[in-house]
Amino acid sequence: MGFITTKDMFAKALKSDYAVGAFNVNNMEIIQAIVEAAKAEQAPFILQVSAGARKYAKPIYLVKLVEAAMEDSGLDIVLHLDHGDDFDICKKCVDDGFTSVMIDGSKHSFEENIKITKQVVEYAHSKGVVVEAELGKLAGIEDAVSVDARDATFTHPDEAAEFVAKTGVDSLAISIGTSHGAYKFKGEPWLDFERLQQISALLPNTPLVLHGASTVLPAFVDMCNKYGGNIPGSRGVPEEMIRTASKYGVCKVNIDTDLRLAMTAEIRKIFVEDPAEFDPRKYLGPARDEIQKMVQHKIRNVLGASNRL
Ligand code: G3H
Ligand code: 13P
Ligand code: ZN
Repeated sequence: MGFITTKDMFAKALKSDYAVGAFNVNNMEIIQAIVEAAKAEQAPFILQVSAGARKYAKPIYLVKLVEAAMEDSGLDIVLHLDHGDDFDICKKCVDDGFTSVMIDGSKHSFEENIKITKQVVEYAHSKGVVVEAELGKLAGIEDAVSVDARDATFTHPDEAAEFVAKTGVDSLAISIGTSHGAYKFKGEPWLDFERLQQISALLPNTPLVLHGASTVLPAFVDMCNKYGGNIPGSRGVPEEMIRTASKYGVCKVNIDTDLRLAMTAEIRKIFVEDPAEFDPRKYLGPARDEIQKMVQHKIRNVLGASNRL
């Protein structure tokens, strides 16, 4: 039991038709729910921490909570930095014991992205830590409707091959139509699987990463809206599309919004049904249970039944 990298789990996932779930963590209940779900399903998983999570909870709390989860569960855990903005935050996380970091240079030019990614790869690899980078921009709801817009934002297969060769990065986040948050598509969900297949054909040994992979499960959206929420018109990536992406080289799928929705839906329900309740354990506990159930559902039905330790 210990902190591990993604090397072995991605090698297995690359050869199979499944992907590993990477779940964003922000507090104790979320960490406990994901780890218990993975333990119950005996599935590999990744816990990831964003800059926002670090700001909210303080890095030391998150690292110590994940250490506690590892000891308590007896499971190996990958601790990953999600969307590292620059070399300094990646270095800090490597030094703090993270086993995987993402350098997100997607807002920079191709050349600059290569330059900072290479710098992170050199440092991380010297400490035995793996690196995810990003090429292409995650399209928002209004973006990428036309072919021209897609070409401007989605990952170019040739550039992806050049980027991996020049940086030595361990995995690559690509843009094929997903976006962060609860409003991913205005009309019918659509992902550029042709582009994904081209990328994975050129990079057969590089695990690909799908950000913005939440399904925005309608049951939780409905529950939120029923109990006083206001999130109309939200739409995520259908589960079937995640399964398809996993067949074409996607080894890691990033999920945060579905965790947030599961937690919020349950808390909203309790607040409305029992307005006299004010013990946080009485709503955070059930919220934690709801997250665990949702993660187990994903592991069983979306991330692949063969996805076992
Ligand atoms: O990248 C997006 C993740 O959902 C993290 O979100 O930056 O609000 O923590 P956050
Ligand atoms: P979602 O907003 O779809 O959960 O995506 C999360 C993500 O990509 C974190 O990096
Ligand atoms: Zn992301």
